Amino acid sequence: MKTLLRGRVLSFHADPSETADNHRYIEDGAVVIDGGRISAVGDYAALRAEGLREIDHRPHLILPGFIDPHIHFPQVQVIASWGAQLLDWLNGYTFPAESRFADESHAIRMANAFLDLLIDHGTTTASAFCSVHPQSADALFAAAEARGMAMVAGKVMMDRNAPESLSDTPQRGYDETKALIARWHGRGRLRYAISPRFAITSTPEQMQAAGALADEHPGLHVQTHLSENRDEIDYTLSLYPGARDYLDVYDGYGLLGPHSLMGHAIHLSPREVARMAETGTRAIHCPTSNMFLGSGLLDAEGLRASGVPLGVATDVGAGTSYSMLQTLDAAYKAAQLRGCKLHPLAAFHWATRGNAIALGLEDRIGTLEPGRDADLVVLDARATPAMAMRLETVETLAEELFLLQTLGDDRAIAETYVAGRPMKSRPGRCGGAFWDAGQTRAAAPAAAPAREPTA
Ligand code: GUN
Ligand code: FE
Repeated sequence: MKTLLRGRVLSFHADPSETADNHRYIEDGAVVIDGGRISAVGDYAALRAEGLREIDHRPHLILPGFIDPHIHFPQVQVIASWGAQLLDWLNGYTFPAESRFADESHAIRMANAFLDLLIDHGTTTASAFCSVHPQSADALFAAAEARGMAMVAGKVMMDRNAPESLSDTPQRGYDETKALIARWHGRGRLRYAISPRFAITSTPEQMQAAGALADEHPGLHVQTHLSENRDEIDYTLSLYPGARDYLDVYDGYGLLGPHSLMGHAIHLSPREVARMAETGTRAIHCPTSNMFLGSGLLDAEGLRASGVPLGVATDVGAGTSYSMLQTLDAAYKAAQLRGCKLHPLAAFHWATRGNAIALGLEDRIGTLEPGRDADLVVLDARATPAMAMRLETVETLAEELFLLQTLGDDRAIAETYVAGRPMKSRPGRCGGAFWDAGQTRAAAPAAAPAREPTA
């Protein structure tokens, strides 16, 4: 049966920082969903019809679901860890937390909690790093498949400078990645990302294995980290003395290109910027993370002007919010600190169509058009008393969007549709019956580990 969503419909067809004709806004609009796809978008009066199930979201805004192109699913219990910059934060907080993902039941519980958190925050697609353990990727893909989500994910490859419990080997990382690609890539809406964590935790032999995987599977995403922190850069260059710069390490193993997603990319030389633009390699801006870890301020405008395609992402758990609204707020503030301005229309384009382009998935997600997947978010600019009070004086769409990104979080997400299904309001929430009911828990052991609270 077809469903019609009624509300104030907004979708971008071009980047507002480049083109004046960039969005379509329909005050009394409708999105018609048929079998997980969008079949029509337009005026409610023109699209209403007998036999359509109607859901009235007025006065809320209906947009394409948010896309988060850089996030770490094993860090749901790392977010909000105090007092460290990147390398100490990894060793002190992150690696111990990721070690627990050797336990399959823990991985399954966290994967389900993670995806429900994304849905709660209006995010319908993410590119996610898993832990080194293949069972963590299995858990995330299974949970995404159960929800019908378009997820990009991969187990991290890491074979040095990490605890034994988090280390694979060049051969094991290759074999496990290969098996995961065969098991999950292209299954429904799932895509595999080859994920060498970063140069510090991979030997040259493992980098070579990652390059071989990319070579053997053209079109697969590659995700990693680049030039996030000064100490990280110095350490990387000491480990790869033959490289011209940090980017050159990845370049040397054939890991650049339009499917390659480089988290952070803050401290780049002009040569690195030019090489990223030349190869179409994506830079992923992670503003809450960059401020939280004191990593630095990305020159987003400079990168964009140089022709580097740019995504914007949470980077939880170094990032401090699952919310793409809060992430846009941080991107705005990071721009302010550099004397630049991020317009709210450009911001919302970035979190939807812009990130779809960064992932190369713009033919499926990121816009509201007939034929696209029906991943949508419904935004409520009156979600809190403070928002409702400010909304009284809002006069334009851009002002409303700016209010949403400045004061909004998961409370402003009235609903999240995944492949046409309302998922935020579905019965059985994060930590509750949904993942305890056996849908995704078949492989879990009977007894939960002692440290786990019972649901
Ligand atoms: N560099 C390597 N691993 C990580 C990680 O998990 N988070 C961040 N922010 N940077 C990294
Ligand atoms: Fe990251």
